[in-house]
Amino acid sequence: MQLHGRTILLTGATGGIGRALARSLAEAGAQLLLVARDAVALEQLGHALPCAGAPHRTLAVDLTQADAPRQVQAFCADVPLSVLINNAGTSELNFLQDTLPETIERQFALNLTAPVLLTRLLLPQLLRQESALVLNIGSAFGSIGYPGFSVYCASKFGLRGFSEALRRELADTGVGVLHVAPRATRTTLNSERVVAMNHALGNAMDDPLHVARQVLNGIERDRRGTVVLGWPERLYAVINAVLPAVTDRALRKALPVIQRFARQSS
Ligand SMILES: NC(=O)c1ccc[n+]([C@@H]2O[C@H](COP(=O)([O-])OP(=O)(O)OC[C@H]3O[C@@H](n4cnc5c(N)ncnc54)[C@H](OP(=O)(O)O)[C@@H]3O)[C@@H](O)[C@H]2O)c1
Repeated sequence: MQLHGRTILLTGATGGIGRALARSLAEAGAQLLLVARDAVALEQLGHALPCAGAPHRTLAVDLTQADAPRQVQAFCADVPLSVLINNAGTSELNFLQDTLPETIERQFALNLTAPVLLTRLLLPQLLRQESALVLNIGSAFGSIGYPGFSVYCASKFGLRGFSEALRRELADTGVGVLHVAPRATRTTLNSERVVAMNHALGNAMDDPLHVARQVLNGIERDRRGTVVLGWPERLYAVINAVLPAVTDRALRKALPVIQRFARQSS
């Protein structure tokens, strides 16, 4: 898909990956509809981005609120929407028994329920285009269950399943579904504890711009299905699907280190 002149809705636009995506998409000539909660940050981002045609627009909304999908639908009702990027997300390192119920609900609401409801409401608009795309930003933890992230993993496994089923449901339409799953990335999503844990375990962390480039590459090459970013994470995802006991053993060895960092908060 050529991005020049396309209208693209991007949630989580002010975050680490969101900003990198917004810049890359704007540089490619897309008109952006930017969504997050912080109105000031959104305004500043909108003004700072290069603009090829129609000005970028912003909407400050909490996507976990019941009326949010309707607000987003109204926000983009008058534009030819070509791409919906469900990118907003949240995560917390904690063992399940130390996780508050409201933290569990927030992760499911933002990482899974919001993309599903938003996609449902915006699909009629996307279907009016000759070609359109739903792009869900998942996680390598949507393919590999990781200790300390059981709730986040559950939400991202859910998003991957949703993306796969929807892609098959829309197979005879012009709307494609792409699910991109980054590995750990240097953004404020990850607390200092997570960064320190990744360091201790030797887990690589990507630059958000690298992730944005891979996402753009996926859009421009009309990729469909799931793309796990990073090596060896892509291989680990396959091994985990075929031989989960191998991953069990590797993560059993890492468990004391993960426990040390996870328990720092509880
Ligand atoms: N960073 C990583 O290591 C990593 C790895 C794999 C996958 N991912 C995925 O990549 C995506 C982007 O992550 P990121 O690292 O860029 O996160 P981030 O830097 O924490 O940014 C999160 C974005 O979501 C917005 N947001 C948060 N809560 C919201 C809410 N209730 N309603 C509306 N917007 C909300 C934030 O803006 P406001 O606070 O202003 O609302 C911000 O724009 C997420 O889906 C994440 O799961 C990240």
